[in-house]
Amino acid sequence: MVDHRRIMVAITGASGMLYARRLLEILPQVYDRIYLVASDNALDIMRDELGVERLVEMAPSGDRSKFSLFSSTDLHAPPASGSHFYEGMVIVPCSMGVVGRIASGISNDLVTRAADVCLKEKRKLILVVRETPLSLIHLRNLTTLAEAGAVVLPAAPAFYAGAKSIGDLLDFVIDRVLCTLGEGIRLVKGWGD
Ligand SMILES: Cc1cc2nc3c(=O)[nH]c(=O)nc-3n(C[C@H](O)[C@H](O)[C@H](O)COP(=O)(O)O)c2cc1C
Repeated sequence: MVDHRRIMVAITGASGMLYARRLLEILPQVYDRIYLVASDNALDIMRDELGVERLVEMAPSGDRSKFSLFSSTDLHAPPASGSHFYEGMVIVPCSMGVVGRIASGISNDLVTRAADVCLKEKRKLILVVRETPLSLIHLRNLTTLAEAGAVVLPAAPAFYAGAKSIGDLLDFVIDRVLCTLGEGIRLVKGWGD
């Protein structure tokens, strides 16, 4: 089968692994191929927050054939090259460490290199950042990335949609990611709809 639509997802070492899992449940509805990578620190936090031992467990079991998993050290992987087309990248959750490395152009692993590719090729790069409070260094790095074309999308759910569960709060943030990707899938009603 030809993979007409491809997207990259990176999971990094911030809190909020539930956001990643929820996004990965939805993406197979739209994309033929999902490239998935996690930093070493992300794997530790996945274990803490979800009890997940291996990255493959983050892909929904019914759709695993649509996923290609890569090691974060694999700089020979297809998404490390701008010549390999994929539509964009979501980093979820996105640590401030990764924000700093991307903002500085330090493409020393597959997460930061694929982000670099998305910026230079003018593809979508969505950073679902989670840290609080934010230091001046974080804010400057985020500004640099916004100026370079990234979408900074904090994992900050709103409460006006009437959330009753953690799942509702997750869906609020992932709905914003899907809207930014432009896929027309809605997980929550928009204000006034
Ligand atoms: C339990 C735990 C939670 C963390 N949460 C965050 C977070 O929400 N945001 C953040 O920027 N860093 C967080 N960190 C720190 C990062 O994991 C650390 O800076 C790490 O170097 C990031 O690695 P990576 O960017 O390569 O994934 C957390 C660390 C631990 C152990």
